[in-house]
Amino acid sequence: MSLNVKDYIRTIVDFPHEGIMFRDVTTLFADARGFRIAIDQLLAPYAGARIDKVVGLEARGFILGGAVAHQLSTGFVPIRKKGKLPGAVISQAYQLEYGEAVVEVHDDALRPGERVLIVDDLLATGGTAAAGISLCQRLGAKVVGCAFVIDLPDLGGRKLLEGLGHEVHALTA
Ligand code: PRP
Ligand code: HPA
Repeated sequence: MSLNVKDYIRTIVDFPHEGIMFRDVTTLFADARGFRIAIDQLLAPYAGARIDKVVGLEARGFILGGAVAHQLSTGFVPIRKKGKLPGAVISQAYQLEYGEAVVEVHDDALRPGERVLIVDDLLATGGTAAAGISLCQRLGAKVVGCAFVIDLPDLGGRKLLEGLGHEVHALTA
């Protein structure tokens, strides 16, 4: 039986556009063993890191981040696309291939000095994660690490985040 996270992830050709090889983690989430391995491996480097909050990036980062937070016995904070959070927010814009996107967090979701682990399914250009890091830092939190199931190194995300001084932990390429 497989024990490798990669074996549970499928690639969908030409989604959402022609030429894109989309890494689909729903098959990983749907498999009890695969999901447990992914959560255990995501949090392993941070088990003794005194994390106060896990921050998940919409949308698949909610599924992973919620499970990681439960396992680390921390709270969970969602970073959402613009207009989805009901309370007062701070916003951060970031570049997409074509145009711009905005992510938001509740302005009282993190306290100054809190130690944060950021979780998402996939690191591509790093734009989403960098915007999420920025939101956490603007609330005074310390980003201890950024954990992803998949890193697509050719797209430069790891370089970007490491260049900003952040630790990147990814389970597979
Ligand atoms: C995907 C993925 C990451 C982000 C990575 O989410 O889940 O959050 O893109 O790309 P980047 O490193 O280039 O920023 P997507 O924007 O498709 O949003 P969704 O999860 O809400 O579908
Ligand atoms: N899968 C999920 N999200 C993504 C991908 C992918 O392959 N590429 C960029 N964002």
